[in-house]
Amino acid sequence: MITSSVVTVASPATTADIQEHVVRMIDDILTSLPSPESLSAEDRRSVIARYTAVLEGNFIYWMTGAYLAVKSDAARAKIIENLREEVRDAHPLMMRRFAVAARAVPTEADTLAVQQNLTRVRLFIGRLSPVATVVSMAFFEGFIQRFMPFLAELARLQGSSEMQYTDVHGVCDIEHTEELYRALEAEMVLTDDAVGNVLQGAEILRALVTDIVYGPRPADRFDPKAAISVN
Ligand SMILES: [Fe+2]
Repeated sequence: MITSSVVTVASPATTADIQEHVVRMIDDILTSLPSPESLSAEDRRSVIARYTAVLEGNFIYWMTGAYLAVKSDAARAKIIENLREEVRDAHPLMMRRFAVAARAVPTEADTLAVQQNLTRVRLFIGRLSPVATVVSMAFFEGFIQRFMPFLAELARLQGSSEMQYTDVHGVCDIEHTEELYRALEAEMVLTDDAVGNVLQGAEILRALVTDIVYGPRPADRFDPKAAISVN
């Protein structure tokens, strides 16, 4: 199980503080992952399906929200570069091909399993909070890149050889990460947003990732009648 360590940063936080915490959050998730061979075929299918339910239709929307939230040229340039690649290379199509080939297209149950925390992410993005949004992007991009070997292995064990999605997203791009944290620095100079919980979006995304890997805890199952807040 992923450890839910309490993550705090000094207020106001520095970029280095934030980067250190984001890297630790990602490390915690990665070191807690189950071995793909230890999972049943249905468990492996479910992880791929829940990941697809989250990423296929939402990543570009989140990046668009981030573009609307940020104020610095550096952050805008970084996000536009990301959006251009997503659209030009049809990443949602790549995602769908990956899920189809692994016979893991999301079912209604898979979609509902991630809905509670996906809703919290949507509401968080809707706040258009510049610094916290860039931090959440840094967390998610860092996570995805390091999650790809696990996801690819699940698909391989399900009999798939369609690995374009995991190959494209598993590239470790140090320069890209540095640019992202330079954009964060620029954003922190321009806003006073850094005094709040700058890790809020990253923490919500971590909860969503936990749902993807393990399925939601019973108490978290989506209830459309329940009031949902970001916190
Ligand atoms: Fe992508």
